[in-house]
Amino acid sequence: MNAHVITVLAGDGIGLEVMPVAIEVLEAAVEGRDVRLEWREQPWGSDYYREHGRMMPVDAIQTMAATDAIFLGAVGHPEVSDVETLWGMLIPIRREFDQYVNLRPVRSFSGVRSSLAGDPEIDVVIVRENVEGEYSAVGGRSYQGTPFEAAHQQSIFTRHGIERITRFAVEVAQGRSGRLVSATKSNGIIHTMPFWDEVVAEVVEQAGGIQLESVLIDALAARAVRSPQSIDVIVASNLFGDILSDLVAGAVGSIGIAPSANLNPEREHPSMFEPCTAPRRTSPAVGSPTPSGRSGRAP
Ligand code: IPM
Ligand code: MN
Repeated sequence: MNAHVITVLAGDGIGLEVMPVAIEVLEAAVEGRDVRLEWREQPWGSDYYREHGRMMPVDAIQTMAATDAIFLGAVGHPEVSDVETLWGMLIPIRREFDQYVNLRPVRSFSGVRSSLAGDPEIDVVIVRENVEGEYSAVGGRSYQGTPFEAAHQQSIFTRHGIERITRFAVEVAQGRSGRLVSATKSNGIIHTMPFWDEVVAEVVEQAGGIQLESVLIDALAARAVRSPQSIDVIVASNLFGDILSDLVAGAVGSIGIAPSANLNPEREHPSMFEPCTAPRRTSPAVGSPTPSGRSGRAP
């Protein structure tokens, strides 16, 4: 019998509600097969933060490294800043375990009506770069509290990073229609995005047999709602992939059912599986009452 040890991070808010049911579903999926799932629940998250001043213990990464996979519910709390909750848990897990692929298949489900006219059948795979790009810790704030206050955020795109995410996307495309769309913005972002385009094109060229279209992200967003069936596999940077995955999942009709796999394809580290998106808290409008109650921010 194959045993798989899975770290369970139910996390916060809605995560605590969905996790027991999600575990039941997985148990049902393996029933009668030669697989045993062993769940290792950890109480980490915002409640833990309020008690211990951190989202996870210092040795959390080592603890999880000894398990085969991570199953995450949701992270975030109205009373704890997103910087603490997300950069204290979700983002470090993605990075420490080099989960550089964020694989987000988005597909129509029977019984879930598309929010697009004509209820089109949607079947798109988004391959999102997951550890670099626009999500970088490089930057800062200067002249705080003065009229000259400024914020700087440095995007980081590496050849290695673009090559490996494109290679993965090529494999996904080879297993499907052979068509790959690369999300870009090289008309407005003049250093990183032309570099992205060049490296993506090189990798696709070397692979052979793939039909590559490089599409500006704004036009791609419009196309995703106008003709989602014209899109099969998308390769995108961290931020573009993040936005597109909500957009396409929203078009399918329910962002709550879209899955997300944070993969370390080489299996040197555990991968992490989570809902792509779920109803999330937004900041209250200025002057509106503060929302009460808890709500988990989906990872
Ligand atoms: C996601 C989420 C996260 C992300 C947030 C919560 C930091 O939106 O997994 O899509 O942007 O990566
Ligand atoms: Mn997102």
